[in-house]
Amino acid sequence: MTPTSPKTPSTQEITARLPFTGPWLLAPMEGVTEPVFRELVLRRNTAEHLGGAFTEFVRVTDHPLPVRLLTTRLGEARFDTPVGLQLMGADLEALAETAHNAETAGAPLLDLNFGCPAKGALRSCAGSATLTDPARVEATVRACAEAVTSIPVTAKMRAGFEDDTLLEDNVRAAEAGGAALVTVHCRTKAERYTPELDWSRIARAVEAARGPVCGNGGVKTHADLELMRTETGCDYVMVGHGALADPWIFTGTAVDAVDAARFLLEYSERLCDAGASKKGSVQRVKQLLAHWTAGGLCEDRGSWLRERDPELLLQRLESASTP
Ligand SMILES: Cc1cc2nc3c(=O)[nH]c(=O)nc-3n(C[C@H](O)[C@H](O)[C@H](O)COP(=O)(O)O)c2cc1C
Repeated sequence: MTPTSPKTPSTQEITARLPFTGPWLLAPMEGVTEPVFRELVLRRNTAEHLGGAFTEFVRVTDHPLPVRLLTTRLGEARFDTPVGLQLMGADLEALAETAHNAETAGAPLLDLNFGCPAKGALRSCAGSATLTDPARVEATVRACAEAVTSIPVTAKMRAGFEDDTLLEDNVRAAEAGGAALVTVHCRTKAERYTPELDWSRIARAVEAARGPVCGNGGVKTHADLELMRTETGCDYVMVGHGALADPWIFTGTAVDAVDAARFLLEYSERLCDAGASKKGSVQRVKQLLAHWTAGGLCEDRGSWLRERDPELLLQRLESASTP
């Protein structure tokens, strides 16, 4: 075994730096995990199960983002479960200063996005584009890790860009730059969101990493959470689509159609309180209904999604929410 130098933190020290309260994490999702959705999910799961959540990615271009904007992304409410702020960008100076501002804004953790497959991200060599160059992954993490004082910096990556050949190199590069946790979404950028899943890539990341790894990709049920941990040896499991289908997935509470409808109604109401139009809020409800499984509410999914009148959709939810 290689002796650990006094400057190199042990795995236990790295894990201890993470503020998570439990092993399951809510994934960052652009257009979904803004404060309203996050709060509804955090309120319905215990901190013992849902150990952490993330903001949607915040895009950093060529100038640092101010504390005020980052505070808005974090939202006002505070929970036992920490909410990490995710940044994506390729300009290291702007990223580093934004990381510093994120800490000032009260972020308990800073996550870096190396997974986004969108054209905008690729054009500016950010997101998953960084995965073709492990040295760039390391430099990006290092720039942010050196810019913060006491919060951990974590990295979230896909298994690769076109293929998974650089997976281990990228995991090690993120750690060399100072990542306290590496989350690996088991699909490559080229695979986008294909239904095929290869969790053995997460096991490979666990093998390559010195510190903790969070597995991600294809968790559909509460039982899958433990299954991924057992099959791959990862320390944490992150859920995206599964939480859109069932926001209670982290605790595994089996809710009925009444609770399910109440969630969706409250979602719409709170979005309106936060400034959305009724039509806009119902569109967001429909975004969830496209995936929804909780409480068996959506067995006739097509008829919910075909409902064009926002008022009628809300009325339908109202009647489903009355026992
Ligand atoms: C609507 C949507 C938005 C997403 N936005 C982000 C994002 O902002 N940052 C990020 O790192 N990943 C983002 N992702 C990827 C998810 O965090 C996650 O890695 C991916 O969905 C795989 O996990 P799953 O199979 O549990 O959904 C997004 C995914 C979806 C479906």
